[in-house]
Amino acid sequence: MAAIYQYCSLFITLTLMLTIIGKPALVMGTFQPSPWTLAHATFYGDETASATMGGACGYGNLFVNGYGTDTAALSSTLFNNGYACGTCYQIKCVQSSACNTNVPYTTVTATNICPPNWSQASDNGGWCNPPRSHFDMSKPAFMKIAQWKAGIVPVMYRRVPCVRSEGFRFSFQGNGYWLLVYVMNVGGGGDIANMWVKGSRTGWISMSHNWGASYQAFATLSGQTLSFKITSYTTKETIIAWNVAPSNWGAGLTYSTHVNFH
Ligand SMILES: *[C@@H]1O[C@H](CO)[C@@H](O)[C@H](O)[C@H]1NC(C)=O
Repeated sequence: MAAIYQYCSLFITLTLMLTIIGKPALVMGTFQPSPWTLAHATFYGDETASATMGGACGYGNLFVNGYGTDTAALSSTLFNNGYACGTCYQIKCVQSSACNTNVPYTTVTATNICPPNWSQASDNGGWCNPPRSHFDMSKPAFMKIAQWKAGIVPVMYRRVPCVRSEGFRFSFQGNGYWLLVYVMNVGGGGDIANMWVKGSRTGWISMSHNWGASYQAFATLSGQTLSFKITSYTTKETIIAWNVAPSNWGAGLTYSTHVNFH
């Protein structure tokens, strides 16, 4: 009887705790890997991966911003107008003698677009032309799964949760009347559907998708502490990052948080 009572009170305590910290929504929102799917992979740039910096997602210097060389440019079919920026993929080389058989797969983050080239056939150089699913990987990432001399290899890929330490990072551009924010280090699905900003003297202001992983608000926000609300594109989970930037925030600065998707 005592054991049952203890069990019940533990259950009630747990339920109460979960209700307070909103854990059930978090569990439901956790992104699950997609099935393995066939595609192809090439690489761009050289071993330094310098060509991958400043990609179409707007992450700038990938070393400074934590993405390193484990990155890929996605064909427009996968890029989804930039909504796929920050998404993560396991990629394994298949059906080629150039595959590194000692490596099961490598994991990359989408940081760039591989644009179509309509002067090349989609089966002869125009690898990124729609409707192809294609990964143009950094050379160091490609070399983990295949010999680079192969140029192009068939791969199996699947979307996986992005494992990020620490929280969202917000990199600011713009001015007191126009705020452009690049969102980096997004965990879980890695992607963003909607975003809002709140100044200490405003309500929540919806931000519009600018390009890549950047969102903008045309509003007077100078001299105000800024908070952000973000909804995941994949899981629809919403997180609020309170008081991200102090009232003397400035363009060109990056602000860290302690909240993230998982
Ligand atoms: C597109 O393909 C043509 C033909 O191979 C090539 O000359 C051109 O440089 C390519 N364009 C880009 C942007 O890569």
